[in-house]
Amino acid sequence: MDPETVAYVTTALEQCKLLADMYMIDYFVDNLWQQLPKSWQSFYESQLAVVAGDRTAIVALAKHILKRPSEVSSIRLTSPEPLSMLALKAVVGNVELKQWAPISKPSEALSAVGLPSLLESRDFTDLKKALPPALRLKIKPKKEHEVSRIADVAGLLIDALPKAKINEIVDVGAGIGHLSRVLSLLLPNQKVSTIEGDAVLVDTAAKLDEKTAKSIEFLTRRKQIEPTSSGWNPLDRKAVYVKEEHEINESRGSNMLLTGLHTCGDFSATILRHFCSNSDAKVLLHFGCCYHKLNNGADKLFKDVYEDKPLVECSKGFPLSKAFGHMKLTYAAREVACFGHEQFIQKLEDSISKKSFFVNCYRSILEWVILECPKPGKGTVDSTLRHQGLRGFRGAEAMDFWQYAEEAMRDKPQVKAKFEQILTEKPHLREEIPKMSTSEAGKTLLLYTFRLLIAPMIEALILLDRVAFLRESGCLQAALVPMFDPMLSPRNVALIAWKDFA
Ligand SMILES: C[S@@+](CC[C@H](N)C(=O)[O-])C[C@H]1O[C@@H](n2cnc3c(N)ncnc32)[C@H](O)[C@@H]1O
Repeated sequence: MDPETVAYVTTALEQCKLLADMYMIDYFVDNLWQQLPKSWQSFYESQLAVVAGDRTAIVALAKHILKRPSEVSSIRLTSPEPLSMLALKAVVGNVELKQWAPISKPSEALSAVGLPSLLESRDFTDLKKALPPALRLKIKPKKEHEVSRIADVAGLLIDALPKAKINEIVDVGAGIGHLSRVLSLLLPNQKVSTIEGDAVLVDTAAKLDEKTAKSIEFLTRRKQIEPTSSGWNPLDRKAVYVKEEHEINESRGSNMLLTGLHTCGDFSATILRHFCSNSDAKVLLHFGCCYHKLNNGADKLFKDVYEDKPLVECSKGFPLSKAFGHMKLTYAAREVACFGHEQFIQKLEDSISKKSFFVNCYRSILEWVILECPKPGKGTVDSTLRHQGLRGFRGAEAMDFWQYAEEAMRDKPQVKAKFEQILTEKPHLREEIPKMSTSEAGKTLLLYTFRLLIAPMIEALILLDRVAFLRESGCLQAALVPMFDPMLSPRNVALIAWKDFA
């Protein structure tokens, strides 16, 4: 990785530390809004005052903050945003990987990684047209989108890199096998094998394979699909929970394209290490996810307290490279990198007419009450009570604060008893809390939006670190290409790499 990029990303992230590292749950306890630059506080407070609780207008303001350069804003501001906010947006634009602008044709992946592009430039495969329903069992639209695009790009990479002589595709972390099954159907000349740590999923995958094989026989007999010369190759599925890279696959003399779709946390790092160390692995097409689980997710604030476990320092998944070896990303920063603007905006739009608009605010009010309503900067709070893993549940969007609190604490009777004791001691809270959720919901939403604004930059850092690691390990051809529609699949950036075959 060139030192200029490393220095730029490092400085950019340092300047966003406050936003990156905060937990929204501490909004009231740590008075997070007051920690923002004064110019931000006054500008956005004045904007919120103008719209006076109109949720549609607040959502429009959040959308304006997240607006990509190509999008037109739906609001007209009466004064410019603080210049430091405009500068931040420009910096994010310089670092992010254009997650919002995926390639629109398979061949664009080749040009994006510096391979000669094709004269003929066909569209991505529409799986619904390419395969009859019986051959795409239980595949949801999101997965159809992902797997068909991976199959298209894998096929092109194999053709564009003839010296790699790929004759096997290995899907690591294969789940119930949708990607591998579709790869084997759309790229019938390749052997496809999988590795998956959960034996139940491997079993389900094998059952779906059996059904698929029967459907192929049936459809071929009925002449509804063309018979292939070799028939449908059975998939080789292994149930192995991989802890170290050498457990992924012993060398078997084949030339492999290694793929993995949304392999969580440190598992992604293990796959990358395997790619570098296994000389049979020639090409990589990989998508990570769940960045918060990197480094074993051990650095979640207060987790050690409420789970009564010692804090284990672990660095396995980030940073991987020497270039970014000096960088630290907190759990909170990695967690926010797991969200996507497009889906967030859609959720916001959906929440306008519902109480779910307030739910994030509810959780931070609950935290504040459980901690005995601390006044900012005064006295200490009981850390053993902080950030407790309260229940997530369906239906919160229809609830007011009191119903929400009841459900959230249902399996934590001690916390609930504490909550009720505080309400008895401070009866004014019964009136104050509903007002808090109404008056602060806009600000909590905007604060979260500021965090989301920088999220693509944090994701970029994690992925650039992976590119740097591959290059430092001798794999000089490594690039990042947004491949999926972020609305369907926000972790949409492919890490594509190949080795020197000379
Ligand atoms: C998010 S799921 C993705 C599944 C599949 N690739 C897909 O996109 O539908 C990640 C998968 O990786 C598997 N996995 C995670 N860590 C693993 C490990 N260390 N060894 C083997 N499999 C693992 C999980 O069991 C899970 O099925």
